[in-house]
Amino acid sequence: MLNDQFGRQFNYLRLSITDVCNFSCSYCLPNGYQCDTPRNFLNKNEISTLVNAFAELGTKKVRITGGEPCLRNDVTDIIKLCKNTPGIEKVAITTNGFNLLKKIDEFAEAGLDALNVSIDSLNPNLFKLITGHDKLTLILKGIERAVELGIKDIKINAVLAKQFNKNQLKDFLAWVKHHKVTVRFIELMETGDGATFFEENHLSGQTVKAQLLAQGWLQVVRGKLNGPAEEFCHPDYDGRIGLIMPYSKDFCKSCNRLRVSALGKLHLCLFAEQGIDLRELLNEDDTAATVKAIRAAMGNKEISHELGKRLTGATTHLAMLGG
Ligand code: 5AD
Ligand code: SF4
Repeated sequence: MLNDQFGRQFNYLRLSITDVCNFSCSYCLPNGYQCDTPRNFLNKNEISTLVNAFAELGTKKVRITGGEPCLRNDVTDIIKLCKNTPGIEKVAITTNGFNLLKKIDEFAEAGLDALNVSIDSLNPNLFKLITGHDKLTLILKGIERAVELGIKDIKINAVLAKQFNKNQLKDFLAWVKHHKVTVRFIELMETGDGATFFEENHLSGQTVKAQLLAQGWLQVVRGKLNGPAEEFCHPDYDGRIGLIMPYSKDFCKSCNRLRVSALGKLHLCLFAEQGIDLRELLNEDDTAATVKAIRAAMGNKEISHELGKRLTGATTHLAMLGG
């Protein structure tokens, strides 16, 4: 098992397979993806070496992220190869859902266990305004199909921002009443490119928490290896509500994840100053050396991010690393 000097255990890998995204969410890529240099993302062999190394170190869950991971035409093969890696029990994907309806059957067939879809608003006009794409109805159909296929762990990510907060909680509550999914509200995090949007839009998740508790929602007790999200359930609702509050005290205490960028850099934190380059080892298919390099890096993991001091590290936007 991978440990750090603060007693945390890391059993969860978030692997970005591309930093390209076709959406232009106002808090992430407001001007769309800008391609300044040719990109050479990890190929399937390199991904296989990486996932094997993490599995040897006790990783049980892999989440495939982007950018938008479905922009890679080998995304299903990548799900399959993760799922077939000895030691990996759970494979998840985070997507904006633009072609979920087309892809979800083959994802399920490949062994996908969990699905996260980003939807900041259930109002189609507002959704279009936030993402630049009029695709809400199609995305919701993709989610219905995932439910039909029996994918049990389905989460919706909704960023909290003043600009689109009106009716957000009310609309999502009405929706989870009859949908067995978890809607997770995420506090807007500051990034290098997003300082102004952050200043104008940041909201604390504690307000949502207070509203939930006042309406009879109960906080679910979660295991140590479940990560920093808080979750709530209600007897009258099929679904759940979650809160991800990186600005809360002690958020980082339950950190259980490590990240690797699409270019093969290990990031000890979403907001770390720099990544540790594993590419050469991956390219040489050297699992043993990759295991060693990951283990050696752990000594440098910091106790917490410094978002409270407005230090955002090397992260200019979250499409770089998949959140
Ligand atoms: N703050 C909070 N969440 C963000 N995401 C992207 N950028 C930010 C940000 N600055 C979310 C996306 C996606 C998840 C991976 O991260 O909406 O759901
Ligand atoms: Fe939106 Fe995610 Fe694409 Fe960023 S990476 S623009 S949050 S869909």
